[in-house]
Amino acid sequence: MCGIIGFTGHLNSAEVLLKGLGELEYRGYDSAGIACFMDGGIRIIKSVGKVAALKEKVPAAFVSSCGIGHTRWATHGGVSEVNAHPHSCGKVTLIHNGIIENYHELEHELKLGGRQPSSQTDTEIAAMLIDSLYYGDAYQTIKAAVDKLEGAYAFCILFSDQPDVIYCIRKGSPLVACSTEQGSVVASDMVALLRYSKDYFILPEFHIAKLTKTSITLTDLNEERVEPEMLSVTWDMSAAQKNGFKHYMLKEIYEQPEAITRTIAPRIKKYTGEDSKKEYLLPDLTCDNIPDSLFSDINRIIITACGTAMHAGLMGKVLLERLLRIPVTVDIASEFRYQDPIMDRNTLVITVSQSGETADTLAALRLAHEMGAKTLSIVNVKGSAIARESDYVFYTHAGPEIAVASTKAYTAQLSAFYILAFRFAYAKGCLAKNEVSNYLQKLYDVVLSIEEVLKQADYFKKISKELIHTENLFFIGRGMDSALACEGSIKLKEITYIHSEAYAAGELKHGTLSLITEGIPVIALATQSNVLSKMVSNMKEVRARGAMVICITTKDAVIESSLYDFRIDIPATEDIFAPYAAAVALQMIAYYTSASRGLDVDQPRNLAKSVTVE
Ligand code: G6P
Repeated sequence: MCGIIGFTGHLNSAEVLLKGLGELEYRGYDSAGIACFMDGGIRIIKSVGKVAALKEKVPAAFVSSCGIGHTRWATHGGVSEVNAHPHSCGKVTLIHNGIIENYHELEHELKLGGRQPSSQTDTEIAAMLIDSLYYGDAYQTIKAAVDKLEGAYAFCILFSDQPDVIYCIRKGSPLVACSTEQGSVVASDMVALLRYSKDYFILPEFHIAKLTKTSITLTDLNEERVEPEMLSVTWDMSAAQKNGFKHYMLKEIYEQPEAITRTIAPRIKKYTGEDSKKEYLLPDLTCDNIPDSLFSDINRIIITACGTAMHAGLMGKVLLERLLRIPVTVDIASEFRYQDPIMDRNTLVITVSQSGETADTLAALRLAHEMGAKTLSIVNVKGSAIARESDYVFYTHAGPEIAVASTKAYTAQLSAFYILAFRFAYAKGCLAKNEVSNYLQKLYDVVLSIEEVLKQADYFKKISKELIHTENLFFIGRGMDSALACEGSIKLKEITYIHSEAYAAGELKHGTLSLITEGIPVIALATQSNVLSKMVSNMKEVRARGAMVICITTKDAVIESSLYDFRIDIPATEDIFAPYAAAVALQMIAYYTSASRGLDVDQPRNLAKSVTVE
């Protein structure tokens, strides 16, 4: 949450910061601001609203070689210019991502010293604290501040008597940096560094990075030099741009065939059978260093995550239980820690996260470690906190996901679960070689079924027009479709602001049916052949109460046409692979409904992409 960027070098920092803030805007978009060294001092410009509003306020003559910029998702203090970052006090100007948990106590102490904050933010208290500790030595000051600060933070700090220098420190919240011929850049994530370099490093926690125009010096809190551990990204700028699509979300929906292939292909190997006649596909996790023993030494799996990643976990549960016969529970990460979970060394905890930095998921992972469980994470962002702190990591290769509503990261997470389930079912002898090979071939084929769905864009637009004035809507399904209904519902509500609920179809008559009245839209997922007849009965129940039914089913399914207003066909496939194409259909409905309602599809109100606060 909150986008951070800092630059010092041979370009106009104001321009660098504004471009960077545009790229980081998906991390928060309530208000934005920049602070730059200029005319012997530090000048700050802030604005409520999106980065575009800030750009309007920055004059062309605002030229500086060093500055910091921030785009905010409000936590402490409402959305206002005074609460927007950067914050300054005395010689200190800073930007912050995170939450200072003891800011009340600090504020009290600082007020006793005669200081008075002007905003309602925890960040201004941090600026006041750092200024109160500053007597010319930035390192000693930051170290003393770290001793006093509790909570999570990533700071970029300017000291007015140290022109063109930026100091950074972090705990919890992310910061990445790179040094190039044009200067030194720091940001809360890689998308803002890409135009300068593909090589970067993650600032280690409790280390100070000092950025000057020509270099970055990294030291620990004892002021010992530390060599940064360099990483590089394989994608380039275009991966993080709209490339002709109206919205990032639509582009990312269309990128799913590639994202899935990139995720599964390196983990599927071809082998020739002993008789040299037949070729087999087998799942292979050597590139991930995940040993088969991981699943044989456990008797229980807990999947924990937030939002869409948690919904991928619901699907993971079905797959793992069905194929491995190991009990799996799925927990929302923000609840997990507080429900006294039962874990030991025979428990495998799987955390799922696109960003790899969601605070609740990270905290759940840490608890799992404390309690001796084994941990595996499914993560999209390389080197992120969740990836670094897990025993094993399965990286999805979805590429950068910019739209707040997750699409390609979700289907890449599903792919991770399929590969894991197939590998361990094979290793445990639950699936024979030819069975697993057939499954893997079908997994490759999901890409074709997604492409089929994408061809129906005009039909989705037509259906969405019917939902423009909808206020309430229901998703129903059974089995895997029940798990998918949860994802369909969150996708729709987060970007269209239509209230929706996902229901296991068989549960309708235990309450929800009282809400089904004439014209209420019900999206009925009917892709699972083993429960199709039951699902048809549930469609009859809502139809009898006047529901407008949109049915998503496989081409070969026989369903009376009187039971639906719209039927969306996905290619016929084995039940366990149907969620892919059906998920894309749901994403398209959500996307076109939001676009038809004229909403901000990529940056829906009140939300942010990476939730680094609890
Ligand atoms: C936010 C995003 C969701 C995402 C969730 C978990 O709520 O808007 O799209 O599913 O966080 O994020 P993660 O990065 O852990 O997958």
